[in-house]
Amino acid sequence: MTIRMMGRLAAGIAMIAMTAGAAKAAEQVEVLHWWTSGGEAAALNVLKENLQKEGVSWKDMPVAGGAGSAAMTALRARVTAGDPPTAVQLLGFDLRDWSEMGVAANLDDLAKKEGWDKVIPAALQAFSKYDGHWVAAPVNIHSTNWLWLNKAALDKAGGKAPTNMDELFALLDKFKAQGITALAHGGVPWQDGTLWEAVVLSVGGPDFYKKAVLDADPAALSSDTMKKVFDDMSKLRTYFDPNFSGREWNLSTALVIEGKAGAQEMGDWSKGEWLRAKKEPGKDFVCIRFPGTQGSVLFNADQFMMFDVGEKQRDAQLKMASAVENPAFQIAFNTVKGSVPARTDISDEKFDDCAKKGMKDLAEASSKGTLMGSLAHGYAQPAAVKEAMLDVITQHLNGQLTTEAALKRLPEAVAAAK
Ligand code: BGC
Repeated sequence: MTIRMMGRLAAGIAMIAMTAGAAKAAEQVEVLHWWTSGGEAAALNVLKENLQKEGVSWKDMPVAGGAGSAAMTALRARVTAGDPPTAVQLLGFDLRDWSEMGVAANLDDLAKKEGWDKVIPAALQAFSKYDGHWVAAPVNIHSTNWLWLNKAALDKAGGKAPTNMDELFALLDKFKAQGITALAHGGVPWQDGTLWEAVVLSVGGPDFYKKAVLDADPAALSSDTMKKVFDDMSKLRTYFDPNFSGREWNLSTALVIEGKAGAQEMGDWSKGEWLRAKKEPGKDFVCIRFPGTQGSVLFNADQFMMFDVGEKQRDAQLKMASAVENPAFQIAFNTVKGSVPARTDISDEKFDDCAKKGMKDLAEASSKGTLMGSLAHGYAQPAAVKEAMLDVITQHLNGQLTTEAALKRLPEAVAAAK
């Protein structure tokens, strides 16, 4: 071969490499989500990096705001413009609403090839599928009826974890006496709802939760049990700090991490913040089921719904869905996020004690029939009913409605939203 020929060959090889590179770079997913806190972003990075290794680049569309209500507004604008993102973080009934609009992609072939039917829990599949077809890849299972305690503050208060509302109030009094904020809470509707649903479960038990929240039964919504729930909510408010209004959940978690507050009621995404701050369960913090709710699990699962974005992005989209269900990813992501795997075939070996408890509680609740959807996080009611209920809960917590008025308004608001 002459030098000239070798030169041409080298140029040709370079050209092929460049073309391959360009083809790879063209594979991209655009992802809309609300994972903007430190712990959430760290977990999402695991997915971004895994996809990058497969030559799929990530176009990020973060919309801050827990529980995703701001994200839903952003999504509406994109879908209306006929330009949906590739994948969107969605919860429960929202998956149904979007699928109903005919904008979902179909993941049946991939799901069949990878055997999703056998490993994704039925409670999740009920939302991952629309009209019998897979439209979403479930990422995790979170649960909302948790209480996160600063271990040093708890020890100072006698070290005993509360098991019912009375013991919780007694502990909060002790935190108050220590001169710290007793209960770190952020006053926004979804957080008010997250606290409220835990109190409903604690005060009324699982059967009452089913009637009042899952069935939105008018009699349950204005019952004496519900009166106790609202009274307890008013009492809990006396343990908040004066700056609670409008505060994001992760800033409240930070108060408990720093020992400026004793406890926070929050879903287990809050553990992601503790871990990110290099804190250890059992040593720096204690995770317990919200007092009085042991034995039941209020769940919400993040799912990436895939939108119909045409053939060009199809391959990248399927790679993303497959990456999400990959067992190694399920471990790597969920150990950082604070959630537990969305698959039933993952060992708890690599998980910390809080997650081990989460997985055990989940299995137990699922077999006992006490695994129930979270209202504030979209797994109990469609968005319209959820928003109507959250409105009443928030107005009552802020003193704009008396308990008597809230008991009257709650069933009315539900009926109007249906
Ligand atoms: C999501 C979590 C998220 C939390 C706070 C919940 O609705 O399921 O993944 O961490 O909101 O942003």
